Amino acid sequence: MKKPSETRNANAVGAPISDEALDQLFREARTHSAWRSEPVPAGLLREAYELARLGPTSANASPARFLFLTTPVAKARLKPALMPLNVEKTMAAPVTVLIAWDTEFHEKLPKLFPHADMRSFFVGNQPLIDETAFRNSSLQAAYFILAARALGLDCGPMSGFDSSKVNAEFFSDGKWKVNLICNLGYGDTAKLFPRSPRLEFEEAAAIL
Ligand SMILES: Cc1cc2nc3c(=O)[nH]c(=O)nc-3n(C[C@H](O)[C@H](O)[C@H](O)COP(=O)(O)O)c2cc1C
Repeated sequence: MKKPSETRNANAVGAPISDEALDQLFREARTHSAWRSEPVPAGLLREAYELARLGPTSANASPARFLFLTTPVAKARLKPALMPLNVEKTMAAPVTVLIAWDTEFHEKLPKLFPHADMRSFFVGNQPLIDETAFRNSSLQAAYFILAARALGLDCGPMSGFDSSKVNAEFFSDGKWKVNLICNLGYGDTAKLFPRSPRLEFEEAAAIL
């Protein structure tokens, strides 16, 4: 039986993307820890950002900030902050991106949301600033992972690190705070473990 997504006219606006694209983004995409030696051109990092930035955020606030570590010197600065299980894979990855949030993201709202004064909605409301920044930078990290996959890159997201060490080393002025980090490159699929199960629709979702 056809899935609902397969019954729509493939040429219509709003039609699903191809099965191959779905495989690349989801079904065959995996979290990688072992990397082939091909380098990642800086232009591809920029392209991934330019796709990811189009994903929706509340009030278009776009609080995520991206610091790409591409050299052994930059990676060595990160190493002391990593949990032991994340050291080898991160040092071996061609690129590691620190995905942070800007604690002053609302200062850019006059540019990003010009049709209303959203800046003053945030000023002085620290809990709202923190919640909005964390929620939306997490979303933007996910958009970035999918954008990278769409461009043929593989990702290895990680939260196993000491955020105060990362912040002290890379964001010492206190303006940006790290959310998660993500290795990028071309994964060695031969070194993957079998995919772990996911929850069935009935276990994780409901339709009211
Ligand atoms: C936010 C986040 C944090 C993660 N932290 C770590 C980590 O610190 N170390 C690690 O080896 N894997 C980490 N992972 C990888 C997950 O275990 C992996 O994505 C999950 O098991 C799904 O694997 P799959 O994409 O191959 O199916 C993290 C993933 C995410 C999204």
